[in-house]
Amino acid sequence: MKKRVRIYAVLLALALLLSGCGNAQTQTGMDGTAGQTERENGQGSLADDRETAEADKSVYMDPAQDVESRVEALLAQMTLEEKIAQMVQPEQAGITAEDVSEYGFGSVLSGGGSAPSTGNSAQDWQQRVNELKAAALQTRLGIPLLYGVDAVHGNNNVFGTVIFPHNIGLGAAGDPELTERVAQAAAEEVRAIGVQWTFAPTLGNPQNERWGRTYECFSEDPQEVAVYGAASIRGFQGELGTEEYLDEKHVLACAKHFIGEGYTTDGINQGDVAMTQEEFDLLLESGVIDPYAAALNEGVRTVMISFNSVDGVKCHENRHLIRDILKGELGFTGLVVSDYNAIQQLSGATYKEQIRQGIDAGVDLFMEVYSWQDFMKNMKALVEEGSVSAEQIDDAVSRILRVKFEAGLFEETIGAETEQALLKKVGGEEHREIAREAVRKSLVLLKNETQDGKSALERLNAAENIRVCGQKAYDLGSQCGGWTISWQGMSGKTTQGTTIIDGIAAQVMPEKKLSHDVKGEVLEENDAVIVVIGEGPYAETDGDRTADALKVSADDAVMLENLKASLKEQGKQDIPVIAILIAGRPLNITEYLDDFDALIMAWLPGTEGEGVADVLFGEYDFTGKLQYTWMKDPADIEDKFAEGNEDKVLFPAGFGLSK
Ligand code: BGC
Repeated sequence: MKKRVRIYAVLLALALLLSGCGNAQTQTGMDGTAGQTERENGQGSLADDRETAEADKSVYMDPAQDVESRVEALLAQMTLEEKIAQMVQPEQAGITAEDVSEYGFGSVLSGGGSAPSTGNSAQDWQQRVNELKAAALQTRLGIPLLYGVDAVHGNNNVFGTVIFPHNIGLGAAGDPELTERVAQAAAEEVRAIGVQWTFAPTLGNPQNERWGRTYECFSEDPQEVAVYGAASIRGFQGELGTEEYLDEKHVLACAKHFIGEGYTTDGINQGDVAMTQEEFDLLLESGVIDPYAAALNEGVRTVMISFNSVDGVKCHENRHLIRDILKGELGFTGLVVSDYNAIQQLSGATYKEQIRQGIDAGVDLFMEVYSWQDFMKNMKALVEEGSVSAEQIDDAVSRILRVKFEAGLFEETIGAETEQALLKKVGGEEHREIAREAVRKSLVLLKNETQDGKSALERLNAAENIRVCGQKAYDLGSQCGGWTISWQGMSGKTTQGTTIIDGIAAQVMPEKKLSHDVKGEVLEENDAVIVVIGEGPYAETDGDRTADALKVSADDAVMLENLKASLKEQGKQDIPVIAILIAGRPLNITEYLDDFDALIMAWLPGTEGEGVADVLFGEYDFTGKLQYTWMKDPADIEDKFAEGNEDKVLFPAGFGLSK
């Protein structure tokens, strides 16, 4: 798997070089090729005229001083180059520890699937992260490095960690306290590898599930998102105003992506919200801003800007949204980070102009993953020619430093005892139990037909010889979905965990007989069928679909046909067929509904597949409810919220049966 990622990375780097632009979104374990090339192109060293004065650490290194005094004392000693370096966030795969000590980057990220070159265990990560963190302390001022990853459903890049249900499942679970515990467990697994920041949670409220990021969002309703988003932030960071807030067991959360991503035309990722700015402002006021207000209230200190545009203007260059609304009306004093190379999508004709637009709009920290050197050079030129003011730079850097002080980075001991203790908890039973509970609660029972006075699930429980059909029944990668080990996720045994069929086996065997068939064939002796179907893994734009493609995978469609034929052939049309849907969003399931006696929406449950069996066969009942309106035909998605649309809706938001 690794090898494929690497070949892909090299090809991508080549493609970028040939196209002469760095605009493409390149999440994967890049091996530094792109960064190397930039350096070889000779953009000159920025370290040439660096000040050599010895740092006066008396105030800023003193935890007894208040944060603002520390920020001020440090800022006053920084050269322009040092300030600009704080404002950039390269990808770890494109830099060395020496780069960190030489340039003094403010932050580093590992994008989706970007594991250390040494391997993908938690130990490999801890070593790499701490190597870079230690390098930052070698700089003149010794400003600690802020390391960020996308822990969007657990510390999901790292092999062997616990993968929790994606947010769409947590929303369905309807238990904010559980969402909080999930985030807290994830925070521990992140902190265990030395990372202090997660780019989560996503606070969008998708209106159109054709969007490939629907599963990253809790609900279509912003009020619900506000509740679960706040709970998630509380879990990641610890409760504001208590001792645990941003302590060594917690991580900084990031409210993303600001704002409007769920409203793009046709659900296109990074697309346009076709409204005037005035209309959009009204939309925000109507409640779409509320998840952000709730997040700020919860003490979130970082916000990531969204790739989407409003009326053709990218959010990253929308001063009104970032400066007037987020930093102005909402009073946000933390740091604003741009999304992955998003600056390169701005309207400016040159990279330099795009950077100017970004800082002018209010971006503080620039996730310019492989073009960091170019970024620093251009930002410096912008200041020298007067297009960016010293005040703008100071404001951005103050925000970055403020968050670092608040998060205790200046007091952090690299690889401290707590970190080592947490490392032992990675992928452990305690966290797996929380994930299993989350799976149980996230399941939504959509159909449970009664026949001869018995529900389909009762008949399943009475069965003695169960046939499990479909490849997704034993596909750990598919049940985890995107953002798992690799950016896009992958089918197969990509990490450690329990598949749905293993979970069922553990519950029913040896009392019942259990057999499995990928193709959907049943045997004469079977008296119940469980069929697992759905979507394969995807992330971001790769998950965008046309309305007619919003259905179960082609393989699963073929399998369902076989199953139907096989049931008929065996004269087994009256045995209960229980369908489990593994998908990141509502799919077009209407044509199959009559073939299923029961239907369970399991979303993307993650590594703890036993949670499904717990409810199917155990003493637990279904409690999950839909947070999304489910249309009969995705062609009618646009009418989802229209009045008098009842006949187009298959299952309304809020729907969910019990046994
Ligand atoms: C995504 C962000 C993510 C970032 C860093 C981008 O492609 O839009 O959600 O945090 O990559 O991996």
